[in-house]
Amino acid sequence: NKGNYEHYMQKEIHEQPESLTTTMRGRLIRGGTCKAKTVLLGGLKDHLKTIRRSRRIVFIGCGTSYNAALAARPILEELSGIPVTMEIASDLLDRQGPIYREDTAVFVSQSGETADTLHALEYALQNGALCVGITNTVGSVIARKTHCGVHINAGAEIGVASTKAYTSQIVVMAMLALAIGGDAISNQARREAIIDCLFDLPNKVREVLKLDQEMKDLAKLLIAEQSLLMFGRGYNYATALEGSLKVKEVALMHSEGILAGEMKHGPLALVDESLPIVVIATHDACFSKQQSVIQQLHARKGRLIVMCSRGDAAAVSLGGACSRVIEVPQVEDCLQPVVNIVPLQLLAYHLTVLRGYNVDQPRNLAKSVTTE
Ligand code: UD1
Ligand code: M6R
Repeated sequence: NKGNYEHYMQKEIHEQPESLTTTMRGRLIRGGTCKAKTVLLGGLKDHLKTIRRSRRIVFIGCGTSYNAALAARPILEELSGIPVTMEIASDLLDRQGPIYREDTAVFVSQSGETADTLHALEYALQNGALCVGITNTVGSVIARKTHCGVHINAGAEIGVASTKAYTSQIVVMAMLALAIGGDAISNQARREAIIDCLFDLPNKVREVLKLDQEMKDLAKLLIAEQSLLMFGRGYNYATALEGSLKVKEVALMHSEGILAGEMKHGPLALVDESLPIVVIATHDACFSKQQSVIQQLHARKGRLIVMCSRGDAAAVSLGGACSRVIEVPQVEDCLQPVVNIVPLQLLAYHLTVLRGYNVDQPRNLAKSVTTE
């Protein structure tokens, strides 16, 4: 049921304030006078000790689910102190990469049925790792075969392009980081700030959804382009990858997410006055580095579309040199990817509609990829 919306993708983008609320329901504890703010993940509470003792945490997934794990990686490293590595499921299998008994392997899958992820799970089980699922589908094969896990509870996702599952996955993995981090005094203030931010996150997503018309206007500007680059770094490298995945899979436009730190190692050669480039430069510890990326792209006459935190427009637009500035509300750095992806989802949606393609069922793709 699409309700008042024309497409499932549109509905699922706009219902993110609600899906995020459901994801967090019953799992955040505000704390009374003597109780600390904390998170409770029912499916993991008996396994946290084992996870904390593991030598490494390995995230495994495909497509958008992989990108969500990439977005959560920095906060998990920070709060757990455990090395976190990333594996695209098919690549892990191609290499038969090492997975050990001392590893915690986290399988991220909206459908819980993706063949590559499932086969990687079977491989990790054989190797004796603790296998944790982050899934949206209760009763799915990945949910059943993992030792334990967390349901993201985002509600059924119908559009082939994953949108609301992505933001709920990031929130669950941030909560996972908080749960593994436990109650160490050293990062108590940081943890409480993140929990406060989680409570308010649905409101921030509601705010950023108001950019709908602005993104439609931007889509009109880009409708006939061949290609669109997206530069991100740190917490928002994942935003660049996921934004470009949305654009290519539904709008059928070539798009590439690029790690801004790699710019001079190749991608800079592509920059000219015609190729549009989205730069994600919201305020965090990498901000000044991103400002310098903007300057260098501008020096090569790049056609820049910059996403920045509200109030930073002047600091990123180089006196009007950028063709567009997208201002978003600022949240805790580790949750900023949840806010930042929304305008890019809207952009991909409007580009698709304007270009006349099928939004909910892009050619050649299936919602659940059950063959390798
Ligand atoms: C559970 C109930 C929820 C109820 C809540 C009350 C289910 C599915 N969930 O939610 O309806 O409101 O208790 O406290 O009945 N699991 C995996 N792999 C996965 C995902 C989950 O093994 O990929 C396991 C978990 O370890 C857990 C069970 O499935 O044993 C349910 O997980 P989840 O729904 O996340 O647990 P709760 O949030 O506690
Ligand atoms: O169901 P899963 O999360 O395991 O699916 C993984 C990918 O197939 C999926 O995210 C795919 O990349 C989407 N079409 C992206 O929008």
